[in-house]
Amino acid sequence: MHKNRQPMRPIWVDPIDGMIRVIDQRRLPHKLEILKICTPDEMVQAIRHLVVRGAPLIGASGAYGMVLAAKTTAGLAEPDTALTEAARHLISARPTAVNLAWAVDRMLSRILSADSGNDRISLALKEADAILDAEVDNCRKIGNNGFALIQQIHSAKPGQPIQILTHCNAGWLACIEYGTATAPIYAAFDAGIDIHVWVDETRPLNQGARLTSWELGQYGVPHTLITDNAGGHLMQHGMVDMVIVGADRVARSGDAANKIGTYLKALAAWDNHLPFYVAIPSTTFDWTIQNGVQEIPIETRDPDEVRYVDGLYDGRIVQVLVPQACCPVANHAFDVTPARLITGLITERGVCAANEADILRLFPERA
Ligand code: MRU
Repeated sequence: MHKNRQPMRPIWVDPIDGMIRVIDQRRLPHKLEILKICTPDEMVQAIRHLVVRGAPLIGASGAYGMVLAAKTTAGLAEPDTALTEAARHLISARPTAVNLAWAVDRMLSRILSADSGNDRISLALKEADAILDAEVDNCRKIGNNGFALIQQIHSAKPGQPIQILTHCNAGWLACIEYGTATAPIYAAFDAGIDIHVWVDETRPLNQGARLTSWELGQYGVPHTLITDNAGGHLMQHGMVDMVIVGADRVARSGDAANKIGTYLKALAAWDNHLPFYVAIPSTTFDWTIQNGVQEIPIETRDPDEVRYVDGLYDGRIVQVLVPQACCPVANHAFDVTPARLITGLITERGVCAANEADILRLFPERA
């Protein structure tokens, strides 16, 4: 989307050297640094360490990781074995967002369908570009479909700002363009609707504080950063009209895994009779599972992500230790919001209730 109103994406192929470039999201908002990624293993590291992050972008990154794998395996005696191993390695980088396995598996079968050598490289590049373009298109449609929901609320309270709460970053940094949760927000803002966004900090890595607030600020959307625990209070006092979040994996039942803390927002919204929407492209559905709470793998990450906080000091990004270094820490990166707490899923094909029958109404080919 935009940095200082200049179009920008979080990942692209450099036309000169053919290598992948990504925005290093660990450094935002203080530094806009671009990293060059030349091997599948470098892509694995970038995904694992959240240089690139957010479900659709992880999928696209996995796809371009397979383009690099097609290049590095081209001269090998047994390229198919090496490609399959590279795919396995890429998928292992992060477990929760299903977009990664979906994109890498699609790339692998496409690449293996061609003979070998250069054919495979150009085929892989075409396929990865197609995955990327489809995600952009999905997000644009999610924006239109979610916009209709915001318009409904707008007509019910004319002349007053629409207050939307979001958690983590489901914006263009996570999704290439528009975002999922943010796409309806950008669409409403572009249409001149008076809108204000409450941005959860999203501890421990502060994707809300660092990324969502930066994105919204770049676009000019009014927003306010809040602590992760503030949402319930705001809801009780009539300061939230709706919640929109993204997701990393959604079961057939509509149960949705998203950044840790999302479930608590859904509970608070339920208790305050507020609509709670999950915006997802269809690539985020896991059609093989029914019970999200039992079946979605939840990533646990390095405890130091909780112990230390990154910030700017004297022009440099530094880390500070918050508890004692020896403090025992658990770092569960995601939680699952049960379908019963979700008002609706905003997809590229329309809005549906979070239950299998209504999901299949939009995606009958999955019945
Ligand atoms: O750990 P992250 O930063 O990759 O987590 C990202 C999220 O939880 C997003 O909300 C989710 O991927 C949806 S992005 C469209």
